[in-house]
Amino acid sequence: MGYADVYEGWKADPEGFWMEAAKVIDWDRPPTRALNDSNAPLYEWFGDGMVNTCWNAVDRHVANGRADQAAIIYDSPVTDTKATITFAELKDKVSMLAGALVAQGITKGDRVIIYMPMVPEALVAMLACARIGAIHSVVFGGFAAHELAVRIDDATPKAILAGSCGIEGSRVVQYKPLLDDAIEQATHKPEVCLILQRPQCEATLVPGRDLDWHAAQDGVTPAECVPVEGTHPAYILYTSGTTGAPKGVVRPTGGHLVALNWTMKNIYNVDPGDVFWAASDVGWVVGHSYICYGPLIHGNTTVVFEGKPVGTPDAATFWRVISEHNVRSFFTAPTAFRAIKREDPKGEMIKGHDISCLRALYLAGERADPDTILWAQRVMNVPVYDHWWQTETGYTMVGNPAGIEALPVKIGSPTVPMPGYDVQILDEGGHPLPPDTLGAIAVRLPLPPGTLPTLWNAEDRFRKSYLNTFPGWYETGDAGMKDADGYLYIMARTDDVINVAGHRLSTGAMEEVLAGHEDVAECAVIGVADELKGQLPMGFLCLNKGCNRPEAEIVSEVVKLVRNQIGPVAAFKLAVVVDRLPKTRSGKILRGIMARIADGQPFKMPATIDDPAILDEIRAAIQPLGYATETKQP
Ligand code: COA
Ligand code: AMP
Repeated sequence: MGYADVYEGWKADPEGFWMEAAKVIDWDRPPTRALNDSNAPLYEWFGDGMVNTCWNAVDRHVANGRADQAAIIYDSPVTDTKATITFAELKDKVSMLAGALVAQGITKGDRVIIYMPMVPEALVAMLACARIGAIHSVVFGGFAAHELAVRIDDATPKAILAGSCGIEGSRVVQYKPLLDDAIEQATHKPEVCLILQRPQCEATLVPGRDLDWHAAQDGVTPAECVPVEGTHPAYILYTSGTTGAPKGVVRPTGGHLVALNWTMKNIYNVDPGDVFWAASDVGWVVGHSYICYGPLIHGNTTVVFEGKPVGTPDAATFWRVISEHNVRSFFTAPTAFRAIKREDPKGEMIKGHDISCLRALYLAGERADPDTILWAQRVMNVPVYDHWWQTETGYTMVGNPAGIEALPVKIGSPTVPMPGYDVQILDEGGHPLPPDTLGAIAVRLPLPPGTLPTLWNAEDRFRKSYLNTFPGWYETGDAGMKDADGYLYIMARTDDVINVAGHRLSTGAMEEVLAGHEDVAECAVIGVADELKGQLPMGFLCLNKGCNRPEAEIVSEVVKLVRNQIGPVAAFKLAVVVDRLPKTRSGKILRGIMARIADGQPFKMPATIDDPAILDEIRAAIQPLGYATETKQP
């Protein structure tokens, strides 16, 4: 069966399609029906099934002949470590850590925050939570204490699992002081923290609260898998929205298992036993779905890589890892390839690394620019598949179903909708638009299994953010168009979210930080084009009347503030002082136009603009930074 048949088959009988896909999951009690739409537009999948994620990702493989297969390959050029963990070993590690959590009083439904670097223990921690039905929330290590505190207050975890440090290139980043600071800032306090002491940096433990990761496991009874309802939250993952408050995306257990398992063969074209590598971080959705859960559920070996595409030690690291570990399918963000291409434009460093094991490269997380795709195709000599999805969905909305049928690639398009997703381009009134017309990208409800059923503690926000604009549809927040063959093109976000090195960030959150500076009266943050990271944030500051401190001093203070409040991952380094911001007559800041000016792009002067002369002032302010020049193109 080709793609068209599979897609039409899903459309004709969505519930039948997903019930069939659900058969390869081990259920403690199989679901009798797929969809519950009695509370539309809120939907539930596999609600009457009982299941355990850890059983499906670990134990069943041990029981079914994969005990000695590598589950995790850990490759860490930054610590010069390589290790392999088999499924049997993983089961032991996970059962023991889960036992330690149980001994600390953690049970089904309790939240556990995980703040860890890219070490196998991060996956062990996620799976240990899944084993006992605890709901984990992994927080990316590049976020500052304040962001961690916000998540602690929203998720109210009973326990926090953390590493003593992460390693960024040659720099040791101490996580423990950030964790202590976050707990200090948060109103909610966890009862216990388990700290993984890494040899690169031993953290001080707080008596009565912190336990050593290994000591906490001494003498505990290994925990068994606890079956949970199909709708039980497997995890909460916070992602950036328009405001400073992150959105807690909830992932339902049953649908997550069924859908991720389906994608491994049909999209990533791997069979159980194959090695799959997603070079991302466990703190992002890619890390959840394709470093941890997807490959393990499907019986694949997953690679946990602690390093960067360049500098650890060089631009050949990816080639070495692919070749050394026999990687079949490889997934990363385009920015990683831009970094390699910049260091090794001719791709010469691939010589000496036999990557003939690799079948395809998958790119996602940000727009894949044609130069990068063509370069990767040429250097790696494999198909390069762009695919489009988001934290909210947890897996591909639009991609190239290589395991069903590799469709012709059109560069610039992530290809076509996957079963489960009826993706349409809508006008402002919510009517589907004809081909080649730009509009809002929306998905017809219900979303398929595994996608977010709601936001943690924020059903109203869920409705407002995704359901209310176009009744009957899920609003993705992206704008784009479809061509006559049904290929999708993603053009821009429709909100104030930007994408920096594949990391999703809120300009609104940065504005909140800038506005907190005592000399700043008003501010705006926009995303400007960047050759390496895709986009970078740029801040505009209007100072309080009478403030006569040197502008450079204030700029450097706000740069530090964003780093301390949001984290280094925001990469906020560009800011200028201006007298006024361009606004509409009703007072709305024209961020979109400012971004086009910075990128040297043409724009239409809005009829509602208050004073067009301000645009010249903006242009003049950022030209010294190398933006808004005639030659600057994104
Ligand atoms: N813990 C602590 N700090 C972290 C961190 C972590 N887990 N991850 C990133 N940081 C820090 C970095 O050290 C850097 O700090 P600096 O400003 O002091 O240099 C800052 O956050 C920005 O990090 P990053 O965006 O990773 O930029 P970089 O300049 O270090 O590297 C790339 C650039 C392109 C090599 C890098 O972004 C990359 O590998 N991207 C891959 C894409 C990816 O994984 N995307 C995830 C979604 S698929
Ligand atoms: P995240 O939730 O962090 O995965 O970010 C999701 C957002 O990243 C999407 O809504 C898009 O704006 C962008 N994005 C992800 N994949 C792609 C892609 N293949 N092409 C263009 N943009 C993408």
